[in-house]
Amino acid sequence: METQNFIALDNLLCQTQKRVDRYLNGLFSKSISNQQLVKAMHYASIDGGKRIRPLLVYASAKAVGASIEDADAPACAVELIHSYSLVHDDLPAMDDDALRRGKPSVHKAFSEATAILVGDALQSLAFQCLSQQKSSLTAETKLTMIEILSEATGVEGMTGGQAMDLRAESHNVKLKSLENIHRLKTGALIKASIRLGALCNPKTTDKQFTILENFADNIGLAFQVQDDILDEIGDTITLGKPQGSDRAQSKATYVSLLGIDEARKKANNLSKDAIDSLAELSLSANVLRELASFVVTRIR
Ligand code: IPE
Ligand code: IPE
Ligand code: MG
Ligand code: MG
Ligand code: MG
Repeated sequence: METQNFIALDNLLCQTQKRVDRYLNGLFSKSISNQQLVKAMHYASIDGGKRIRPLLVYASAKAVGASIEDADAPACAVELIHSYSLVHDDLPAMDDDALRRGKPSVHKAFSEATAILVGDALQSLAFQCLSQQKSSLTAETKLTMIEILSEATGVEGMTGGQAMDLRAESHNVKLKSLENIHRLKTGALIKASIRLGALCNPKTTDKQFTILENFADNIGLAFQVQDDILDEIGDTITLGKPQGSDRAQSKATYVSLLGIDEARKKANNLSKDAIDSLAELSLSANVLRELASFVVTRIR
């Protein structure tokens, strides 16, 4: 049963990849003035990555009965922000990693200056994508989407978490502080993905929102705990990024604080809590349930 689920999820991730790539190609084809920068933006965001965040947007939209078309722009907007965060995360001034998504990182394939600019431009494009979307949603909903994504990206979200992650290098941080770093640097964008999906149906109730947000809090943290585990025990080829990077940079991680076994227990408990929190949602939330298992059993 479980294997069948994973085959189905693999298919969904594959379809999501194609759908997102098509939409992003459409966005890039409108930029004709700076071919070199667009080439690097394309390199950073197309043909790679698991597309978990876009699938979370689609799955959350599905859970509340929204149309897939209305979820396209938010799904691509979160992926653009995520891709930008990876480009900057790999820079020598940050994690100094030369491999990403199985290819040389953007600063290696192009230049450091290009990597900085690619991040800047992908971030702007994400908000352009939300503000110019041709969906059936009202202008007010589109504005709410921009608000949610900007908060999740900024100082109270991913960027703030990344700053804290860098400050924590080579320091003895407490588990509570590490949890906060992970919830910001990774959890915030995952939560935004789920919230944006839920917004795709104007009739989503406050109760559905609360259930989905609770789910998101659990899988957001679980996702980064598993990332910490894979950095320790995964392999570079499968990961498509350098195994052992956290240890080399003396990062504070769930593995460095708790060890592998306890980190695994933590990730599994979070995944279980996430699935339990969906009890009141119908079968339409099944993809979210499968994603919650995938997040902690994945090897890439
Ligand atoms: C990696 O995210 C960075 C983290 C926030 C842990 P993913 O594991 O989703 O990376 P891609 O998109 O598949 O490359
Ligand atoms: C990064 O966390 C989170 C981001 C906001 C990009 P990591 O630094 O652990 O991500 P990887 O392992 O390089 O993908
Ligand atoms: Mg990092
Ligand atoms: Mg990194
Ligand atoms: Mg990592």
